[in-house]
Amino acid sequence: MTYNEDKKYYGILIHGGIKTKRIRNLNQTETIKISLKKSICDGFNLLKENKSAIDAVEASIISMESSGNFNAGLGSCLTIDKTIEMDASIMNGKDISAGSVGMIKGVINPIKLARYIMEHTNHVMLVSDGAINLAKQLGMFSNQIYINKNKLRIYDKLIRNIKDKGQENDLSSLERHYSQYHDTVGSIAIDKKGNIAAAVSTGGRWLKLSGRIGDAGVVGSGLYADNKLGAACATGHGEYMIRLALCKYACDLMKEKSASFASKKSISLLTKRFGKNTGGIITIDRKGNFGISHNSESMPVALINSKDGKMKLYFSNNKIE
Ligand code: GLY
Repeated sequence: MTYNEDKKYYGILIHGGIKTKRIRNLNQTETIKISLKKSICDGFNLLKENKSAIDAVEASIISMESSGNFNAGLGSCLTIDKTIEMDASIMNGKDISAGSVGMIKGVINPIKLARYIMEHTNHVMLVSDGAINLAKQLGMFSNQIYINKNKLRIYDKLIRNIKDKGQENDLSSLERHYSQYHDTVGSIAIDKKGNIAAAVSTGGRWLKLSGRIGDAGVVGSGLYADNKLGAACATGHGEYMIRLALCKYACDLMKEKSASFASKKSISLLTKRFGKNTGGIITIDRKGNFGISHNSESMPVALINSKDGKMKLYFSNNKIE
């Protein structure tokens, strides 16, 4: 995508997390495609109706969280204790306000809670029991089934792999076994007024220790948005994003450079420091140009902007529809 100094577009770009292995199951690919299409339409329709970028990113994330098809909301992965602990955050580039939740349970749409924290409290981040209590007060807590047969099958497979190798007491070995499952979801948008926003949500990492919060809960790492710079959302190995403050890095680059440049440079830094199959990033600059980059096998993304109003879906650099 070119960086056009003269033109400005409104639009939205979402991702469904990096995949470190090729998806061979066509049903799975189809399911991801359908979910991405629905989510991006939920966001873009709001932008067309003059709604804000923050409304659009929230709507698209709600759709992905509720689908159960990604590692976020209903689809969230399991901790080593077979529980669910989710992280999410949202940021409004208009005034760089932000809200985030960590270790949240029993909430189908953690992004709604993050937005509530951003708009109705003096805080940025609430975690664990405090966040859960707030969700209960707001009527966001539910007893929906998060743990299904498929999740238990993946859990058992991961644990079996580790035990087969005699590595059950070696925490660093967990990394090699679960690194193929990263489905954090992210969304960035720019509205007709030029306001920029970002949102991200995740169940975190398979077999993570209870209490672990990843980049999706940490502003500057899993996401960043500032009308003066642009917006970015990351996916992949959260600890690395936190250590690099990757999304703030990408946004700072967009002060002078395009979204495309910022995404490539950020992933090149990630790869240089931590190797391949560690992450991906999506970016949007002040002109409404998009950037997409990842160092993994693929990263499903969907995008639409007002330039042509056409939805585009990619799994990586290969267009899938
Ligand atoms: N990127 C999601 C996580 O590491 O939790």
